[in-house]
Order: sequence, then C-alpha cells, then structure tokens
Amino acid sequence: MDKLFIFDTTLRDGEQVPGCQLNKIEKIQIARALENMGVDVIEAGFPVSSPEDFASVVAISKAVSQPIICALARCTKNDIELAAQSLQYAKNKRIHTGIGTSDEHIKYKFHSTKEEILERAIEATHFAKKLVEDVEFYCEDAGRTDNEFLAIVVEAVIKAGATVVNIPDTTGYCLPQQYGEKISYLFNNVPNIHKAIVSTHCHNDLGLATANTLAGIANGARQIDVTINGIGERAGNAALEEIVMLLKCHGELAIDTGIDTRKIAAASRLVSNLMNMPIQPNKAIVGRNAFTHSSGIHQDGILKNPHSYQIINPKDVGIDTDTILLTARSGHAALKHRLNLLGVEIDAEQLDTIYQDFLVLADKKRVVLDEDILILARQKNTSIKSLKLEYLQATSGLGITPSATIRLALEGKTYEASAQGNGPVDAAIKALKTIVQKKMLLHEFTIQSMNRGSDDTGKVHMQVEYEGRLFYGFGANTDIVTASVEAYIDAINKFLSREV
Ligand code: KIV
Ligand code: ZN
Repeated sequence: MDKLFIFDTTLRDGEQVPGCQLNKIEKIQIARALENMGVDVIEAGFPVSSPEDFASVVAISKAVSQPIICALARCTKNDIELAAQSLQYAKNKRIHTGIGTSDEHIKYKFHSTKEEILERAIEATHFAKKLVEDVEFYCEDAGRTDNEFLAIVVEAVIKAGATVVNIPDTTGYCLPQQYGEKISYLFNNVPNIHKAIVSTHCHNDLGLATANTLAGIANGARQIDVTINGIGERAGNAALEEIVMLLKCHGELAIDTGIDTRKIAAASRLVSNLMNMPIQPNKAIVGRNAFTHSSGIHQDGILKNPHSYQIINPKDVGIDTDTILLTARSGHAALKHRLNLLGVEIDAEQLDTIYQDFLVLADKKRVVLDEDILILARQKNTSIKSLKLEYLQATSGLGITPSATIRLALEGKTYEASAQGNGPVDAAIKALKTIVQKKMLLHEFTIQSMNRGSDDTGKVHMQVEYEGRLFYGFGANTDIVTASVEAYIDAINKFLSREV
C-alpha cells in the first residue's frame, strides 16, 4: 500500500467561507477531532490575516501534537515571519507559502512577469526554509497555469528547499484528465520532483473536485488538500470523507490514508454545526440520506442482503444505525455517550448544565436529535461576558398588531423593552434595538427546520451589518421568534467582543 498524506484545510480554506468563522475554542475542538481521525497535516490558519487567526494557530499548535500544524503565508517576508511565529509551539510545523503562477494572476493580480514571479517564489522558499524545516509551496491557479512554466517554478522551489509542492486548481476549472496530465507532466519534466511530495488542492466549481483529486493521485500525487464536508471558497474543496471512502472501497488502488473512518460522521456533524453550514441531505458519505433506502424494491433488497444496494457499511463511517433514542427519560450517561459519539468531550460540570437544557428541550420535543444536542453543547461555549436573552414574550395573529417584550442581561444588569412590528420577529428585534442602541442593519435572515415535524427545532442564520462589517449570528430553538432574537444577539455579541 502507498501512503497518501491527508492535509486538512477545513480551518483555513473552509473557515474563509462567509458565515463559517469560528472562535478559538471551536477551532481547537475541530483540530482535536481531526487529530483523532488521523489526519497528517492540519492547516490551522492564515496568521497575517488577523490577530485572531494568529492566536488560533498558536492555540491549535499547543492543543494537538500528532499532526503537522501548518500556517499559510503569501510570498512576503512579513507573512512568512508571522507564520513562523504562530507555529512556535507546534511539535511538528510547516509553512505553506506560494504565489499565483497563471497568466491571469501574473498579469491582472500582480501586474508582473513570469521572471519576477519565479524570483519571488525562490526567495520566499529560501526565507521560509531558514525559519522551519518543512516548507510547502503552492502555485496558485496551477489549474490554468501553462505546464511548462509550472514545471520551471516547481523545479526551482524544490531546489530552494520545498518539501511539498502544491498544485491547486484554484478556480475548479480543470477536467479530471487535464488535471491528471498536469501532475503527470510534472513527474516527467521536473528532474528533482522525487525530492518533494506532490499535493493536490482541487476546488469544486464544476463539481469535479473529488474526480480531479483522484486523477492527481492516479498520476502520482501523494498528498491531498481536503476539507470536512467539502467546505471552502465558493463551491468548496474536495471532501475528505469522499476521497478517503472511495480509496477504502477501491482497495485495488492500493492507497492507504491512515484515516480512522469511524470518526468521519462525528467530525462532519461537528464542523457543520460549529460552522453553521448545513449538509445537503444527499451529500455523499455524510448526508442525512446517504444510507437511507426509500424505494420498496431497494428496501426489499437491503433486507435480503445489505450488499445488494449498499457499497459502504454505515458503521464504517461512524453512523450507528442502532442508536438509543434520547428522550426526557434518558439519564446523564446516555447524554454523555451521545455527545462523545458526536465528537464533543465535556467535563462533569458542563454535562450537568447541558443536561438541564436537554431536559427542558426533551419536554418540548418527544425525541431529542443529534443536531439538537450539538446546539445545546455549543450554546454552553459562549462567553459569560456576552449579552443574554433572559425573557421574551411575543404576540401575533390575525387581526392584531404584533408586539414583543424582551429582557436582556449584560454583566449582571438587566434591561427590558417592548415594541410593535409587522410580525413577532420584527417587534422583538425593534425591542432589542431600543436596548442596544447601535446602528445595525439586518442583511441575511434564514429560518430552517432541522429535520421535520411541527415540533422541530428551528435554526436561524443572520447577517448583521455594523460599522461597515458583516457579523454572523446563529440561533436555534423550538420557538422561531426566540431563535431569531438569539441569532441577532449572537451577531451583536460578535462585534461587542471586538469592541471590548
Ligand atoms: O485555492 C488555492 O489556490 C488555495 C491556496 C492558498 C493553496 O487555497
Ligand atoms: Zn483553495
């Protein structure tokens, strides 16, 4: 079996997605799940982009020890220096630097020439190599870069010390055959190619990220950049779970990823939940329907023999089909067991508080689902210094003017207000705004049910503009007016925490 290195960029390319921003605690939770699963490299952030990103790379470097921790840097001294500083506590560290190499990037982004780009690439690699041993170089937009120039850059950066060369199809443009030929071209035309590992980084703009990654592997790439659930810029990146499972299903390819596939479902839910990114129901491997057989003919076949319609045993990806239903009668132990299966580690004190909320929810809903539990666990992560909703009463209906009264608590003080609006959410938000007197503008506002049934938990996502910046808020409750106000408050807490 050939070893394929798994480079997970959920916390960098994935976290770049609007609305997916995480706090440090959440990033550590995901990094630990990735470590447990057995990924080889965690791209923990882009330290120059913000002080928060820098601090997160530091925190992740301290929290996990098995995988290589990687930090992204453009080809500038400042970026590379900050990346190295952010990695100071990492046991195994890597700087991932690079520059655009396609004509489009050279001409329109850098107003430069191939010669200058080559020089910058070599200089940056030399500089990074002085600070860390392990340097990965990415040729941004390699998918649209002409192969001859790509080979020149790859040869030069390997000579300058790059241990891994990354060939991103940044715009998701390539067809699988083209991408495979690109990788093959490098193996045939770069004399020192065997001194480095070749990596894929495929975006999904044409729905080909997985196919292109596979083409890269088939032509010699031995590292793949992937994300959990395939999240990432625009249409996303190649999904870790898809490549890992296709290699497991096709043992004849003789590629070993070293991933503990039974941890996939928990990691997928954790990322979806913390990043506010719902998983499409028919998503391969991790979608709600991925192992659901609905037609009578299929059900009959499955009952006779699961192999008739199932190429993957759900248990192999950590989907426990015999799960215990969590209801108001379930105890602490059952809740803790479920949380652990979902990838959430908690201490006894946290379990106690989550359990109280669990009982309240279980009284409202007959069965408490995994998604509900993840939301309860997540709500306990919010800081004590933040604004909290203590009380909300909203009245609405045909022939009456909707109105709402809310009470908020902040650092030991409480504030109450009432207002009318064109609906209960509008009234509640108007009341909220009379307390929080800041110039805020609501942009996106989506309400989704989590599963089905009128007793379901409603999830609300909001974008609130404040001082020219967009802040994302999330709320979940069986009462959608409460969920909406919680989402607004979540967004307010995000900018309040920056003002402190
Ligand atoms: O898509 C891309 O080119 C990237 C690089 C920074 C690796 O994300
Ligand atoms: Zn990317």
